[in-house]
Amino acid sequence: MTEATDVYSPFDPAFQADPYPAYRRLRDEDPVHRHTDPPFWALSRFEDVWDAVRDHGTFSSASGLTFYEDEIGKLGLAPTMVMLDPPRHTVLRRLISHGFTPRRTAAMEDRLRAFVRARLAVMREREAGGETVDLHRDLSSPLPTFALAELLDVPEADRARFGPWVSALTTFQDQGFDTGAMLEGSGARAVAEMFAYFGGVIAERRARPGDDLISVLTTAEADGERLTDWDVLGFCFVIVAGGNDTTGNLVSHAVALLSGRPDQRGLVARDPSLIPNALLESLRLEGSVQALGRTTTRPVAIRGVEIPAGEKVMLLYGAANRDEREFGPSAGELDVTRAIPRHLGFASGVHFCIGSHLARLQARVALEELLAAHPRVDVDQPRAKRLMSPFTRGWVSLPAYLGGQPMCG
Ligand code: HEM
Repeated sequence: MTEATDVYSPFDPAFQADPYPAYRRLRDEDPVHRHTDPPFWALSRFEDVWDAVRDHGTFSSASGLTFYEDEIGKLGLAPTMVMLDPPRHTVLRRLISHGFTPRRTAAMEDRLRAFVRARLAVMREREAGGETVDLHRDLSSPLPTFALAELLDVPEADRARFGPWVSALTTFQDQGFDTGAMLEGSGARAVAEMFAYFGGVIAERRARPGDDLISVLTTAEADGERLTDWDVLGFCFVIVAGGNDTTGNLVSHAVALLSGRPDQRGLVARDPSLIPNALLESLRLEGSVQALGRTTTRPVAIRGVEIPAGEKVMLLYGAANRDEREFGPSAGELDVTRAIPRHLGFASGVHFCIGSHLARLQARVALEELLAAHPRVDVDQPRAKRLMSPFTRGWVSLPAYLGGQPMCG
């Protein structure tokens, strides 16, 4: 059991278990915070994070997104789109948006729904047999893996390989890009395997293009520019690493939050048209991405504090999204009817999440099906296990009762 803390200490398990008291203290007392070991700055107020993330000229992504040094070099990769600044980022983003459209995503809805229904049927059977089901492991986590595999048209038999790749990449990031551990460990094998695998898929689609996203990207063209194999590989890498856990955790966070507030759960179950807003509210309150970094390209003054050029600045999306100055005195409470004109759950500016439409679609379908069949779904909070990380917020395990806790009647 960890003691609650209001000290911002990204590596401390107590902070990771409940970062919100520390975020509040930062916003109120130290909004331009200097962290010393490792050295970086942390912005926590909505207005400051919003302004910084939209000013890519001053806050660059080109030196990585964490507070670790030489993150890109240690990854051993050429930078992918999320670690590029304009103008190169603009070219890549335009070409990728050409294929990764909301229309392509929307066309997946029926397949996603069938997948969710099948998972729920299995979970029901287990529960009827006396087992406790795990909402995260049995539903939320497999859903985005299925979605990405469909999007990229990966054969059924290969899909089970995605999970270990994602865990290896997130562990690598959470352990501080420890290259020693990475190179010796399963992490290196996973990344090498992933690259070899997608390299093969890209070559095959160039030879025999289909209707899938990879085929579309290999032929995309804008202003005489085309994507290289590396660009397409880099995109596959970013979406497998950044589109899986984040989406699974959005579903699990939403169910966990609603389960803690039966009144709100009742509202959404009775009126499913509230689901998209309830998901946005969940993302605001419990964002899968809590913090990402930038590097200053010039000296910049924020609230009278001078940040020199070349410094790492962490943008605490999770803190900004609970800022009372933006969301009012109830900022820390779940309100599925809240008007949310802007938030930072998918960031903002040039790197605004390009997969947000796919994430929202998956989460909507999951909640629609779950709440229609199990309007009193309940999470066993004391037995749930959180993912511990300085950058992301999520679940390892979320035991649940589909029919509601037996003692709740
Ligand atoms: C709830 C789920 C998701 C969350 C919370 C999330 C969050 C984010 C955030 C915060 C960023 C900005 C990164 C930055 O500030 O540097 C981002 C970018 C990105 N996301 Fe997502 N994401 C989610 C789902 C997805 C999905 C499903 C995909 C793709 C299938 C995806 C692909 C990307 C890509 C490619 C970028 C980089 C965009 C760019 O650099 O222009 N994400 N995401």
